[in-house]
Amino acid sequence: MPQHVAIIMDGNGRWAQQRNKHRTFGHKAGVEAVRASVRFARSQGIKSLTLFAFSSENWQRPKEEVSVLMDLFGMVLKSEVKKLHKNDIRLNVIGDISGFDEKLQHKISDAELLTRDNKALTLNIAANYGGRWDIVNAAKALTRDVLAGKMDISEITEQSLDTNISTHGLPELDLLIRTGGDHRVSNFLLWQCAYAEFYFTETLWPDFSEQTFAAAVEDFSLRQRRFGLTGEQIMTQDVEHKAC
Ligand code: IPE
Ligand code: IPE
Ligand code: MG
Repeated sequence: MPQHVAIIMDGNGRWAQQRNKHRTFGHKAGVEAVRASVRFARSQGIKSLTLFAFSSENWQRPKEEVSVLMDLFGMVLKSEVKKLHKNDIRLNVIGDISGFDEKLQHKISDAELLTRDNKALTLNIAANYGGRWDIVNAAKALTRDVLAGKMDISEITEQSLDTNISTHGLPELDLLIRTGGDHRVSNFLLWQCAYAEFYFTETLWPDFSEQTFAAAVEDFSLRQRRFGLTGEQIMTQDVEHKAC
């Protein structure tokens, strides 16, 4: 079972267009798929679920669509946070929060504060998020420490940079799912993807269900993750591990 799963929730617009509806109809329909994926992750003991809700590039979409997405984010936060809390789920928003209006920023920090001690699942919502932004942000934090004399350049390592990455403290990313049929990362968790397994499905996000999620996890469980080693080395490790 993967410990940390991330999902690029893509295909809302096309789902709506197939029904001769406005793209925003697809975003609204996608909320139910978010609920289903959280339910599934919680029930399967996945420790961390990171959902790509709005990228740093999505601001360039038509103004009306951006505005519906912002309203929807605020509404869903408000309507779901108690249920998340009751289910022992910690809500965490990753991304450049300062880009949102103040009301939404408050809703985000209230939800994070309420749920911060919850342990069953960490639900990360990536909003105004970009993988390059995440790395630049971490680089800036380290630079500040070096300039303040708290750190030497030789202490800039993968570990110290990772300490300043938005998902720090969570398990390593095991599985990245993208719905909607495209095979790209679209500036999502670039740093975290180093050894993640990728799963692409044609399913459009509003049609994503616990069954689709289960199929992705099943596929993941059949893969051999080698982390640069040979297949034989991994097999021997497995045998040794089982013998212990
Ligand atoms: C993903 O669906 C949701 C967001 C990017 C906010 P899209 O809106 O990208 O849907 P398609 O890819 O155009 O079908
Ligand atoms: C990625 O989807 C962002 C989210 C799912 C929030 P996009 O629809 O923005 O990605 P591209 O433009 O097809 O690469
Ligand atoms: Mg898209």
